[in-house]
Amino acid sequence: MISKRTIEEIQFATKIEDVVGDFVTLKRQGSSFVGVCPFHNDKNPSLHVTPRLGIYKCFVCDAKGNAIHFLMEHAKMTYPEALEYLAKKYNITIEYDRPETPQEKELRSERESLFIVNEFAEKYFMEQLRNSDEGKMLGLTYFKERGFKEATLDKFHLGYCPGGWDSFTQTALKQGYKEEFLLKLGLSKKSDKGKLYDFYRGRVIFPIHNTVGKVIGFGGRILKKDEKIAKYFNSPENEIYHKSDTLYDLYLAKKAIRQMDNVFLVEGYTDVISMFESGVENVVASSGTSLTDGQVKLLYSLTKNITVLYDGDAAGIKASLRGIDMLLEKGMNVRVCLLPDGEDPDSFAKKHRDSELQEYLTQNTTDFILFKVQILLEEAGKDPLKRAEVVNNILQSIAKIQDNIVQSFYIKECARLFEIPEASLGSKLRSILWKNKSERKKGEQAPAEEVTPLQEVQIREQQQTEQIKPQVDLLYEAEKNLLILLLKYGFYEIVVKDPNAEDGVAPKRVDQYIYDELYNDGLVLQNPLLRKIYDHYAEKAEILKDFGDLQRSFVYSEDKEESQFVLDNLEWDDYEYSDLWEKKYDMYTRYASNNIQSLQQEVESTLLSLKLRIVENQIEFLNKELKREEYEEEDINNIIQNISLLNQCRKNISERLNRVVSR
Ligand code: CTP
Ligand code: MN
Repeated sequence: MISKRTIEEIQFATKIEDVVGDFVTLKRQGSSFVGVCPFHNDKNPSLHVTPRLGIYKCFVCDAKGNAIHFLMEHAKMTYPEALEYLAKKYNITIEYDRPETPQEKELRSERESLFIVNEFAEKYFMEQLRNSDEGKMLGLTYFKERGFKEATLDKFHLGYCPGGWDSFTQTALKQGYKEEFLLKLGLSKKSDKGKLYDFYRGRVIFPIHNTVGKVIGFGGRILKKDEKIAKYFNSPENEIYHKSDTLYDLYLAKKAIRQMDNVFLVEGYTDVISMFESGVENVVASSGTSLTDGQVKLLYSLTKNITVLYDGDAAGIKASLRGIDMLLEKGMNVRVCLLPDGEDPDSFAKKHRDSELQEYLTQNTTDFILFKVQILLEEAGKDPLKRAEVVNNILQSIAKIQDNIVQSFYIKECARLFEIPEASLGSKLRSILWKNKSERKKGEQAPAEEVTPLQEVQIREQQQTEQIKPQVDLLYEAEKNLLILLLKYGFYEIVVKDPNAEDGVAPKRVDQYIYDELYNDGLVLQNPLLRKIYDHYAEKAEILKDFGDLQRSFVYSEDKEESQFVLDNLEWDDYEYSDLWEKKYDMYTRYASNNIQSLQQEVESTLLSLKLRIVENQIEFLNKELKREEYEEEDINNIIQNISLLNQCRKNISERLNRVVSR
């Protein structure tokens, strides 16, 4: 168990913009940051990151949470994995409450065990390549012959699995790694006779990492050409390896992709590695399949610009064109670069100087749609029917593009290439768009947006609270408003009446004022959740000196109900601190309406509204009691007297409230 102290240390060190920024390109906007939301197919930067509160929130899909939520949701980490990631990032030594007992070790999630076994295997293969005689002679020689530099071997953690029958498996078992996990990860296989053997034996190893650099799988390449055996062996799908959600090696390329605002897409491991060696680092591989939805999702928060690199042997090009339409649909700007005949990115990079590769890429990259037109037209030749088909095909692609202006640019270009009037292409496009739209409508349910596990939990929780809560509970609303004020402005000072002060007024902190007011009137919050937060606030305010720390500690609260309340109710983006705050501490700016109100007024009116609500509830209660028949006359008189007292009280409070509000 990671100790509570470590968890707190992590919470306070964590900068939300760093963490989200590891996966999403963020731009500063005032005191917060915005980026393209990775939780839905976002066209605009809808994700807002607020450093002051340590939270992110998407204004379209409503994804929200703290840094740990982000890592769990986006990078698919477990809670302990997220903590480990943050600890590493901020150089925090993790302290455990006590050593793990054997039972706990057993219980630790399977996922975690799979990561640990993979990590062991990666180290083993790396070690074999570098230090064993066989590894050096066969593996290293192979990589050297391919022209890979030593630094590259280290950068990509390349390795070698010995050619014997079970050297790796035996070592792993001896060190206590379980057969079950070795099999699940595909590192070992079982023969017909029930003996375990090394799946990758005699192959060089390309470890595959996830977006945070943990090894999730392996590709093993055979050393010699052999038509009968597959060139690559790959990890099977399991809890930690999902081929369709993985790009090789996005972890290493992430930074360069963001810097260049473009990503090169290639097919294979060696293509990525050779391009890296030539200084092109914004490159990932789909590992031999066409790009999937999940893979695009990983990219579109980093960049909208993708350049697909094609091998020169035109065979695969036509088949892959369709897959690329999907990219257009997702709002990506797609360009292509065709390599000379017979070359793949690996061979081309090896044969040319770094500068030549870079120059080739810049000079030969063309727009995808125009490229497609060219390829299809060449194929169609002069045949008018085939040419008409091409026109249709291209218009289908153009229809996928989200941006109208871009669409009309293509219509113009294609009109020129096809030698067809622009107007008739335009009207054809409109009819396709119209047809697509009506088809989408017909399909009854619109294609459901994917719901993430966290969102699912949130939806369920929301439904539950909605069921419990009476339709509109005015008392609850009043208590909630007071609490929100406390959480937003607790440490700020207002000027309140003070008989001991010279001029009868003195500054007082908002939280102190609220606690005193409720205490003096003997009032307690009625809603259990709100009361809990109210009590926690008092405890935290005792210890914490900085208001931001206090707010963040609620955002990071281990109590889900509590952190959810805070996340749901701090409309952090409507409020911006103005410089006025510094000089005139009783003012705050309501940014959205640009309407300056007095915080003092807001605090007083919220408190009075709550008191009014409490008094009204009591009156209502007593009025109901009056209608019951079991009371004696004396009781009834008592109740009536109370009601009139309360009515007097209500009058007082509403007058004060009116005065405050109209001030
Ligand atoms: N691939 C695979 N299994 C195969 C062949 C290919 O999984 N039998 C995947 C690998 O991820 C490979 C990619 O498809 O990297 C591209 O295939 P290919 O171009 O044939 O391999 P290269 O990576 O170019 O490998 P090499 O240069 O060593 O031939
Ligand atoms: Mn190759």
